[in-house]
Amino acid sequence: MAVMNDENIKVFDHPLIKHKISLLRDKATGTNEFRKLVEEIAMLEGYEALSDLPTELVEVTTPIETCLTPMIAGRKLAIVPILRAGLGMVSGILALVPTAKVGHIGMYRDETTHEPVEYYCKLPSPIEERTIVVTDPMLATGGSAVDAIDQIKKHGGRTIKFMCIIAAPEGVKRLHEAHPDVQIYIGSLDRELNADAYICPGLGDAGDRIFGTK
Ligand code: PRP
Ligand code: URA
Repeated sequence: MAVMNDENIKVFDHPLIKHKISLLRDKATGTNEFRKLVEEIAMLEGYEALSDLPTELVEVTTPIETCLTPMIAGRKLAIVPILRAGLGMVSGILALVPTAKVGHIGMYRDETTHEPVEYYCKLPSPIEERTIVVTDPMLATGGSAVDAIDQIKKHGGRTIKFMCIIAAPEGVKRLHEAHPDVQIYIGSLDRELNADAYICPGLGDAGDRIFGTK
């Protein structure tokens, strides 16, 4: 399936991101290393995804003199992980922007229908003026991401970025069609979904691999 060429869809091409995703895919990679890799990839992706944050000049006194120097302006950041697996990416982005607020949206996929079921939503308030980064390592059918962003918009969220590590073309298409205004950042665009709606080649179940469950 061809994924549309759109300025709001960015697939990373950085060798460090590619290398770390290859390590994540390996079924021999254990929980501890898996968690660290997810955090590192989120930081690398975040560095790029936040490159358009506006800055403003503020006055700072150095040991030498007073100068006007740029700092992140106006719009502040909110990180909203989709539980559970999105939690693994939060610390990587907080390392870049420690003052960001963190909301949570709880979703799980029904095993038969593969459609998301929401069980929790708590967002920083007010959300309207914040740049919101939704995190989830996996964009498979796209159902979880679409519903999470529906919720955020219902609460007033306007400037939204979605950051994932691995995406299937089906999920990118569904998310982009539902929310064309949302900037989508993808570590690797994989081949397709299988009959169980898992991404191929993918990395398996991201939540189970981050939290050591199953
Ligand atoms: C995984 C993943 C996404 C979702 C992606 O979560 O973390 O949230 O599946 O699939 P979709 O694009 O088809 O909606 P899961 O439902 O396994 O829940 P968990 O993170 O609690 O394990
Ligand atoms: N969720 C996962 O954790 N992995 C997949 O491949 C698809 C959905």
